[in-house]
Amino acid sequence: MPEDSVKVAVRVRPFNQREKDRKAVLIIQMNGQQTTIKNPDTPKDEPKKFAFDYSYWSHDGFSEDANGILQETNSKYSSQRKVFNDLGQGVLDNAFQGYNCSLFAYGQTGSGKSYSMVGYGANKGIVPMTCDELFKTMTKGADSNKRYEVTFSMLEIYNEQVRDLLSKDNPKGGLQVRQNPKLGLFYVVNLKKVPVGSYKEIEQRMDQGTANRTVASTNMNATSSRAHTVVTITFDQIIKKPDGGETKKSSVMNLVDLAGSERAESTGATGDRLKEGANINKSLSALGNVISALAEKSTSKKKILVPYRDSILTKLLQNALGGNSKTVMIAALSPADINYDETLSTLRYADRAKKIKNEAVINENPIDKLIRDLKEENERLKKALEQGGTIDTDRKTGMSDNELIEMRRQMEEEIRQNLAQMGEGQTFEERLKEAQAEVTNEPADRSASVPHLSNLNEDAMLSGKLLFYLEKPSTKFGRKDASTPCDVQLSGLGVLKEHASIENNKGEFEIKQLDQNAKIKVNGSPVKGTMKLEHRDRLLFGSTHLYVFQDPSQRKKNEQPVTWEEAQNELAQAKGFFMSDNLSRDQQIAQEQIIELLPWVSEANAISEELNKRKSFEVVLIAAAAQEWDVNKERTTKVTVKMKDLINNNTWLWDRAKFTNRRFLMADMYMKWLEGDIDISKIPKEEDPFWEPTEDVLIGIGNFFPQALGYALDFDDVIEITDYKGQFEGQLSMQIIPCSKNGKPNSTDEYLDDPSELLGKEFTFKVVTRSLQIQKARFSKGLFVKYKVFKDEEYVKTDIIKGTLAPEFKHTKIYHFPKITQEHLDFFENGCVSFLVYGIQEDTSGDKKLSKMTTKELRQIDHMKQPVENNDPKVRSASLHDVAHLKSEYMLLQRKFERLEMKERRIKRIVDEWEKKSEEEKDFTKFFNVVQAAAHATGTKLKTRVQAVNRALRGLKLVQQRPESNDDRGSEAISLHYFGEDEEEMARIAQSNNGFVDYNKLKQKLPEIDVLAAHRRAIQSQMDERREKNNNQQNGDKTESKACAIQ
Ligand SMILES: Nc1ncnc2c1ncn2[C@@H]1O[C@H](COP(=O)(O)OP(=O)(O)OP(=O)(O)O)[C@@H](O)[C@H]1O
Ligand SMILES: [Mg+2]
Repeated sequence: MPEDSVKVAVRVRPFNQREKDRKAVLIIQMNGQQTTIKNPDTPKDEPKKFAFDYSYWSHDGFSEDANGILQETNSKYSSQRKVFNDLGQGVLDNAFQGYNCSLFAYGQTGSGKSYSMVGYGANKGIVPMTCDELFKTMTKGADSNKRYEVTFSMLEIYNEQVRDLLSKDNPKGGLQVRQNPKLGLFYVVNLKKVPVGSYKEIEQRMDQGTANRTVASTNMNATSSRAHTVVTITFDQIIKKPDGGETKKSSVMNLVDLAGSERAESTGATGDRLKEGANINKSLSALGNVISALAEKSTSKKKILVPYRDSILTKLLQNALGGNSKTVMIAALSPADINYDETLSTLRYADRAKKIKNEAVINENPIDKLIRDLKEENERLKKALEQGGTIDTDRKTGMSDNELIEMRRQMEEEIRQNLAQMGEGQTFEERLKEAQAEVTNEPADRSASVPHLSNLNEDAMLSGKLLFYLEKPSTKFGRKDASTPCDVQLSGLGVLKEHASIENNKGEFEIKQLDQNAKIKVNGSPVKGTMKLEHRDRLLFGSTHLYVFQDPSQRKKNEQPVTWEEAQNELAQAKGFFMSDNLSRDQQIAQEQIIELLPWVSEANAISEELNKRKSFEVVLIAAAAQEWDVNKERTTKVTVKMKDLINNNTWLWDRAKFTNRRFLMADMYMKWLEGDIDISKIPKEEDPFWEPTEDVLIGIGNFFPQALGYALDFDDVIEITDYKGQFEGQLSMQIIPCSKNGKPNSTDEYLDDPSELLGKEFTFKVVTRSLQIQKARFSKGLFVKYKVFKDEEYVKTDIIKGTLAPEFKHTKIYHFPKITQEHLDFFENGCVSFLVYGIQEDTSGDKKLSKMTTKELRQIDHMKQPVENNDPKVRSASLHDVAHLKSEYMLLQRKFERLEMKERRIKRIVDEWEKKSEEEKDFTKFFNVVQAAAHATGTKLKTRVQAVNRALRGLKLVQQRPESNDDRGSEAISLHYFGEDEEEMARIAQSNNGFVDYNKLKQKLPEIDVLAAHRRAIQSQMDERREKNNNQQNGDKTESKACAIQ
């Protein structure tokens, strides 16, 4: 059999508005078939190279023509037409020859899969163009000996369930997928396959399918970009042969728009106690495994099992991958730097897919034979039915009665279908007429003239698919079970029976709450009572229904549509998440994640309210600086979700993956509850996505910078413990002390000028966690502190102290480094020790009064307690870290300063004492040694200089200097007895000056004094500078947050 590799194309889209706004860096280049990607973190590195059958540059080099179609202005640009000419036309040619064809698009969310497959507005994608051309070619090649039969079906795979998008009522749990025992292929039982007679009909059916997706997605904002959409077109050519017989050439075309790929990782390894949520991505990860297995199979002689059976998607794509099909994959690439990881993984995926070998055959058979086969199949099914037995190898004996009934039903259905195909029952023409009648009654699109609401969806493909016209003086929105029927029926989270109305006063529009509890937001702000509407206003009903008000009379020329992202941005801002410009890449990624999570968090809160789960959720940003410091890990702004128990105030912090996982389980639980399938109160807590065992809560972190150690200085400090918001939670009193191996502190007057003096030496210090003071009373159930120093693998943990907010830990840990290396010095110089303060939480039943309240009431109370926050990731990360660091630098300088002062004082004292002694008592050698020791102790640099001077100081004469009163040098003058060999000069000066030496002259002779003073002055000025910076930083923060709050 001829082998055919899967053809792989990559395509890079233009920057979107957000990427332009934040001045994204382009990381993809294309040249011929080659595509390269640059790592934005290491711009000097060679870009990674990939080669594909086609590399489509759609990033720039185009402009929009009068019809809204993007046309090339540069030959490098690949338009929709060009992509169709290469890929779509190939699919079409193959279909006409009787091959099965598959085309699927892979890539992260927003990378352009749907743009390539389906297209937007005037820029139609491969699927519609192929369908259009299919009918055009059929008409062109019309021949009385040939008949064509085309059918269309459209399904969605979500959460491992198949939904027929052409059918309004899908069974609970979705349609069944079964394997044809004879052909081994999988198919969807009872999927609607509608005959189509023109391109227009296909278009109508696609719209119908998309509208169904939109309704489902809007009611429960769950599906959108997590669903895989599969359009299947069967194309049969029935050809009369000269001998009077007929043959049938058939082709099945599978056109697959996959769910965004990055999600696979974000929920893959969540480490969550509840694993089921991963179902959401089962199909996508199974697809990855199938592709890897097939790629390996193509290069290895080993027998490799391809795990098609692992998911619904891979079952349905079995033919497309490694089977009887000509297959094309389009890998859609985002061009921007922040998507580097995802884009690289897409390229690698595509690279693997290229290795897959298929064996496509022409599906051509004489009709007699087909009918014979079908008859045989029917006989077999009938026999099996009569015997009540099973024929499907999949089925195990010992099926339940229900399963048996279901199986019989399916067999009968198959028999009916086989009979229909044999021409018994309706002909294709009859079925086609019926199908056409179904869609001709579609209402006309009047959006160009009538004011309306148009929906916004996370999936751009689904935006603008629901239009509610506002012609009546009052249009009422609410649930199906409203007392008087609503004009627009909405369902889903937070929608009340009578929710809102839009009043039309001769072209002036106003939105009105129909219930004081109805949640309505206009442009991010809640509506109480009524509010006037302007063209392009964004409306949110409940927690998932998002619309744009459109007044065609106000429409401007070349108006860009309002996007879902813009509306979400606005909602995020209203919640206090400020979307600043000039964010670092790390912060930009955090921003994207916030926008993604916020609507889900609202959803989780709404579900919690409806199911009365007494939990509240909140997006929480943890700036890099508020995270634990770790040598081996780069810290980036973390976006997490906090769950709070509204009864006992316990909290949990979930990372994105875990929350995402839970969020799907919550939505699932809610759907089941809506359908009456479950009793919420009976769900065991182990299976409840809202439940989590209590865990210790991280109250806050205090950072300590061990710079002092580099100078062999001890350090005791009270460090501020701040939570992830940078809010003060308490203070920790701790010490770090250079010491001997058994913990005895080193002499206090030693200090080094330069940390490098420690290199190669042994060094010991101890960390003493003394005491803690915490503010919030709820943490009195127990407190402990843990930390890691340098490369500690395990945390050092204090005891847990209960019943107090001011525990005394008195916990000591000695660190001994046998030989100091540069790495140690780097740690002293730039490292950090994060002290993590934890509180014990207990699963208490809380206040009785609270237990009587509903989740909604509890959330309102909780909300009122919360201070207005500034959630700008930029402001937060800048301040926290810098302030702590500046503070510790300042402390270090202060410590050095104190040491110097002490040394100066000590020398002065020795000299004073010497002076008081009588001549007989004066033992010069002893005195000299003491002074020398004091000077030595001031550090090595000083030490060597003192030694040098000492050689010259073997003098016997004493020279004294006294500060001159009211002299501006007074403050820096010190008294010092000077003795040395070349003191004649000094002595002379002294004699001519009542026995005193001028300080300046003395300084020339003994620079050490100056060094001390200069050192001290320098440190003083550095300290001032630091202090000022520190103040500015704090003030700056305040102003910045204020500016944000006003925005
Ligand atoms: N080649 C292109 N030229 C112009 N615009 C494009 C192109 N590709 C994508 N876009 C635009 O980028 C946005 C995202 O594209 P699209 O909806 O196709 O992404 P997707 O991969 O299908 O995402 P999802 O996984 O969320 O479904 C859309 O607004 C689309 O119009
Ligand atoms: Mg899409």
